[in-house]
Amino acid sequence: MEEVRVGVFVCDCGSNIAGVVDVPDVVKYANTLDHVVVADEGKWSCSVDYLNKLKDIIREKEVNRVVVASCTPRTHEPLFKRATRDAGVNPYLLEFVSIREQVSWVHMKEPEIATQKAKDLIKMGVAKAVLLEEGHEIKLPVKTDCMIIGGGAAGMSAALQVASQEFNTYLVEKEPELGGLLNDLCFLSYDGHNIPAGRIAGSLVERVEAHPHITIFKGTRIQSVEGYIGNYKVVLNTGNGEPGNLDISTIIVATGMQEIKPEGQFEYGNHPQVVTQLEFEKLLKDKALGANKHVVMINCVNSKNDVRGCCNLGCHVSVKNALAVRKLQKDASVHILYRDLSMIREEGRYLEKAKKLGIKFLRFPDDQYPRVSIEDDGLSVKTRDILLGRDFTLSADIVVLTTAFMGSDTVDEIKGQLKVSANTDKYFQEAHVKLGPLEFPADGIALSGCAKSPLFFKEASEEGIGAAMRASIPMKNGFIEAEGIVAYIDDAECNQCGLCAKRCPFNAIVTDEEKHPEVIQALCKGCGLCSADCPQECIQIIHYSDDQVLAQVDAALEENAEKKIIGFVCHWCALGGVDMAGVSRLQYPANARLIRVMCSARVSIRMIQRAYEKGAAGVLVAGCEFPTCHYITGNYEAEKRVKRAKRKLAKQGFDPEKLWITWCSAADGPKFANTMRDMIKELDL
Ligand code: FES
Repeated sequence: MEEVRVGVFVCDCGSNIAGVVDVPDVVKYANTLDHVVVADEGKWSCSVDYLNKLKDIIREKEVNRVVVASCTPRTHEPLFKRATRDAGVNPYLLEFVSIREQVSWVHMKEPEIATQKAKDLIKMGVAKAVLLEEGHEIKLPVKTDCMIIGGGAAGMSAALQVASQEFNTYLVEKEPELGGLLNDLCFLSYDGHNIPAGRIAGSLVERVEAHPHITIFKGTRIQSVEGYIGNYKVVLNTGNGEPGNLDISTIIVATGMQEIKPEGQFEYGNHPQVVTQLEFEKLLKDKALGANKHVVMINCVNSKNDVRGCCNLGCHVSVKNALAVRKLQKDASVHILYRDLSMIREEGRYLEKAKKLGIKFLRFPDDQYPRVSIEDDGLSVKTRDILLGRDFTLSADIVVLTTAFMGSDTVDEIKGQLKVSANTDKYFQEAHVKLGPLEFPADGIALSGCAKSPLFFKEASEEGIGAAMRASIPMKNGFIEAEGIVAYIDDAECNQCGLCAKRCPFNAIVTDEEKHPEVIQALCKGCGLCSADCPQECIQIIHYSDDQVLAQVDAALEENAEKKIIGFVCHWCALGGVDMAGVSRLQYPANARLIRVMCSARVSIRMIQRAYEKGAAGVLVAGCEFPTCHYITGNYEAEKRVKRAKRKLAKQGFDPEKLWITWCSAADGPKFANTMRDMIKELDL
């Protein structure tokens, strides 16, 4: 058997790491670890110069396992994987250790403790690296047929872009007409001009309908989607009752958004003259303001609260529509009641214009929304202006509510068909907010426009074009190389219980008549749910095998276990939260030794149990918030498993209260830091 020769490369990251961590000492320590044949310090390890040096060292010292200790794998792992491959080592034999986001940035005032933690993390990385196995990307052929779901601004822009490359483009729209929200708007303001939305929609629809490479299905819904990139079989419920079958290679989701109807709020639904901005736009579009001379708009309805943040569009929409009112009726009065005016870029110009035209702005307190009441002669709105420090009562002919948005009603259906995730507001969840904003974790499915978050027309169109480019790359290449982090089954140990096939959220495990399971690698996303639940422990995940993870646990707890917390964090949101705590320089106690897994679903009871047996002070399982697990149901399964683990641990005489669980978003650094602080307090460390 080949001798295992590990190379450890520790980055200073300028002074980002070296300003806190004693890197020369860490390198010296790494050199003492079993199997390590070389350890080196790099000033800027991701620089071209250092990457060349790293490749030279790998070749010179015949390194066959690589450990890089630097920033976060979420951004830099692909770069080091390429360098490892260039140096002749299989990239799956690289282990990445984060000593910037998890160490130097979060323990800035404790250099000695930080240095010790960096040593521990490297020891854990080496322990795993020794056991790593080669992996291989899966090459799949991709043809040139793309389906776009949604015929609004983003969907039509995407369709035109895909079709311009002469790819076969299928545009599926659930409504009888293309145009989406554009059909409901009066005009769009762009670059100081008001352009009728109908004109923009008309021009887009005309181009889409005339394009020889675009086939349009109106009034059509998706009935089912089977397969994977390069090989999707889609069944449509077409508007004319004819079934539609498509063989496509890629998919773009552009399902748009809708207003959240403020039923029961501000007398909406009780009085016909209380309307939403979109309903009001229809009056403006039809020039049907009639006797509505006194208009009161209330902003931030259903947004900027405990449930959701700023809707991004409301301030602009209210000012735009207020200007439209004044254009139609010079003597109309318009009051905009707002909490905070978030208007950026050229939008500021509209605000100035509105003020000059006499549109009144009253700023109400965050915790004291205006009150609308129905009077005999119309509507009355009571509000407080915190800038003037006065209460006002305004008579209104019409009250317009600037309400928040949510994703389309079709989202629940489509997310099940495509096996992707969406949040509680029915917005689809992108792979990564910065690194993969126009794609899902599943290869071959791009995401764009208001299906992801509320956007202006221009942004939605640009995203449509961006998503088209994402989908076009594999179609242009004719193939895709999918990540090789996938499950594999040891047939000799399998007892054909069939649980793995039932559990897999991607239907990636099939069984034959004798219940022999087989992994369809093109469908497997490597979440590890099957592996963690396998009663025979005979399913492993490349790069995240049981032995590799357990080796990390053991290495972390070799010394001072009673002071350490083992944290299993999912690669997506939980590690994102950890990274965000680092980027924000949130300082928290240094007791945690984090182990990355692709999904919280990968964490088996055995892994948790091992940490207990080795004397850990506590164990944390951290994943994405519900329902945004990147593997659809992973976090739900993890939650159930943690409950089972607690019961099992209690029976074995362990304290189940030492096992914690947390769900955080990739932006929620404070939540992760607070969890750490809370654990330290509760565990009395
Ligand atoms: Fe984060 Fe599943 S990917 S919990």
